[in-house]
Amino acid sequence: MSNLKGKKAVVIGGSSGIGLETTRLLSEAGVEVVVGCRRGVMPESLIGVTVRSVDVLDREGLNTFFASVGEIDYLVNAATGGDRAVGPFMDMDLDGFQASFAKLWGYTNSVRLGAGYVKDSGAIVLVSGYPARKVKTGYIAISTVGNAVEGFVRAIAAELAPKRINVVSPGLIDTPMFAHQGSEREEFLSNGTSQHLIPRAGKPEEVAKGILFALENEFVTGTTIDVDGGALLS
Ligand SMILES: NC(=O)c1ccc[n+]([C@@H]2O[C@H](COP(=O)([O-])OP(=O)(O)OC[C@H]3O[C@@H](n4cnc5c(N)ncnc54)[C@H](OP(=O)(O)O)[C@@H]3O)[C@@H](O)[C@H]2O)c1
Repeated sequence: MSNLKGKKAVVIGGSSGIGLETTRLLSEAGVEVVVGCRRGVMPESLIGVTVRSVDVLDREGLNTFFASVGEIDYLVNAATGGDRAVGPFMDMDLDGFQASFAKLWGYTNSVRLGAGYVKDSGAIVLVSGYPARKVKTGYIAISTVGNAVEGFVRAIAAELAPKRINVVSPGLIDTPMFAHQGSEREEFLSNGTSQHLIPRAGKPEEVAKGILFALENEFVTGTTIDVDGGALLS
């Protein structure tokens, strides 16, 4: 039996990809969801879901956002935050490398400004990604940021207790984060996963189920849950 019915959640980045599927599953389980994202637009209407415009890098706006939502059971942040630098570190534009940390700052802002609104019985979930622990050529910035997200959650869990906080780490997932279209997209997703134990791109819903597990299971905190098709073992 799900214990989600009647709960209230904020899903930042809930208008696309993994966040959207998390919003959908929560809404189907009877959770009232407030989605936060920059454009403040949902691609579709879902029962019990409202959307507000907020940028996780704008602390004042984020403060106003949380104050207007009030007390919540769950906080999920699945926002990408900004651009990601890809390529060899030694050739990289260091401003681009530094800018890749927007995701970390967005996550830490949302925990700092949002955790006070999460009930003691509640939970927080952030999203890292398999490059955090599976080093790939050209993914130095993404690895470093993912590691920082996972390290932040381990470090902060004791301070936030009894509230719980966890990370879900996806493999390569077929979401709008990747701009490729048509056959170029198929090639990108299949080449990127051909060596994985489950040799296909993941579906956003598969990761969202991992997020719901971390929200619901009251014996899980301070850890990283991999939903990656065996990418780490490939
Ligand atoms: N897809 C993958 O293969 C993959 C793999 C590993 C990890 N991840 C991680 O999983 C998470 C979700 O990725 P996704 O693939 O679902 O991405 P996505 O489909 O591009 O969705 C990103 C969401 O974040 C919101 N967002 C981005 N920057 C924001 C900001 N500064 N403030 C507020 N909202 C912001 C976007 O809405 P607006 O544009 O309207 O703000 C959108 O709702 C990210 O942390 C990503 O790094 C993804």
